[in-house]
Amino acid sequence: MVEAARKQNVTLEHSCLRGRCSTCKVHVIAGESSPRVVEVAVNLLDLDKDYILSCVRVPESDMVLDAEDLGACPIPLKRTFSAEINSVINYNEDLVKIELRLPPTQKFIYLSGQ
Ligand code: FES
Repeated sequence: MVEAARKQNVTLEHSCLRGRCSTCKVHVIAGESSPRVVEVAVNLLDLDKDYILSCVRVPESDMVLDAEDLGACPIPLKRTFSAEINSVINYNEDLVKIELRLPPTQKFIYLSGQ
């Protein structure tokens, strides 16, 4: 739903796009949808109250959501890049810095928080 909304110039709040953070949780007013993956970040109580994670849901009908349109935030569409690993630094057992190098022709737009 997040991607479909974005293609219609509506930006729904999101972060991980994997069903893990609940940033994209919205209230469903009407319509049916099904999850593409297990919604790890939504609990049964939320589902009972018609809250879903819009990043992992596929609409099965027209949907009406109670959600804010962040249209003023220019969030780029999800893209896949080929890259080379430039360096790997192990800071400790929980933290690794991986530096990637994109081909010079690739244009990558970085927004803080990505
Ligand atoms: S964006 Fe993180 S759960 Fe949907």
